[in-house]
Amino acid sequence: MTKLSVNINKIATLRNARGGNVPNVCNVALDCEKFGAAGITVHPRPDQRHIRYADVYDLKSILTTEFNIEGNPNDEFTKLVLSIKPHQVTLVPDAHDAITSDAGWDTVQNLDYLTNTTEQFQQAGIRVSIFVNADPKMIEYAAKAGADRVELYTEPYASMYPSNPEKAIAPFIEAAKMAKKCGLGLNAGHDLSLDNLHYLIQNIPWINEVSIGHALIADALYFGLERTIALYNEQL
Ligand code: PXP
Repeated sequence: MTKLSVNINKIATLRNARGGNVPNVCNVALDCEKFGAAGITVHPRPDQRHIRYADVYDLKSILTTEFNIEGNPNDEFTKLVLSIKPHQVTLVPDAHDAITSDAGWDTVQNLDYLTNTTEQFQQAGIRVSIFVNADPKMIEYAAKAGADRVELYTEPYASMYPSNPEKAIAPFIEAAKMAKKCGLGLNAGHDLSLDNLHYLIQNIPWINEVSIGHALIADALYFGLERTIALYNEQL
């Protein structure tokens, strides 16, 4: 079964709104695990506006499922990841001031950089996933960079899904086939929800892991966290 990794950035955003420790990010992460999440994802950004570097250290010492840290591998991020040694690092080319990730890597242009970065993390025993658009060439070059997996940027799928699901999924099936052909593991994330998740998995059942934050946390306002995680797992 495809694993559900819950991105808990939004929990930190809520906490940071008041400056105290409510909700407690670590307790929420532990509850996600207890309620059936197969992993926890965090995306620390340079301005630490949601997950802070200190949260990443706190989480490392308590999590029992798979820990995935995603972000742009600048010096500070690289130092953090190498000292935490999570199960997986996801390399994301987000700009300093990006509201959220809005594109995958150009793996052709950045081949040398990604090759060196990937090697550095793998030498520390960390699995490396490279965030890419659903473009077979980008996937081919992620494999050339030595990545273990790619994460498909699913926003274009999610935004087209309501009007034309078949057209929306088509490039993702091609991209997923290329990942398989290159021997890469396959992750997916961004804007996945209870509406669009099942169709994605039905068409690409070999996806190893999805990481989901925004919609899942929003759903939890209505269903509660335990029921919401169960609903997402049912879709998988
Ligand atoms: N994958 C990556 C690389 C991301 O940057 C994000 C957002 O932080 C996600 C997945 C999760 O996206 P969403 O919050 O829309 O579920």
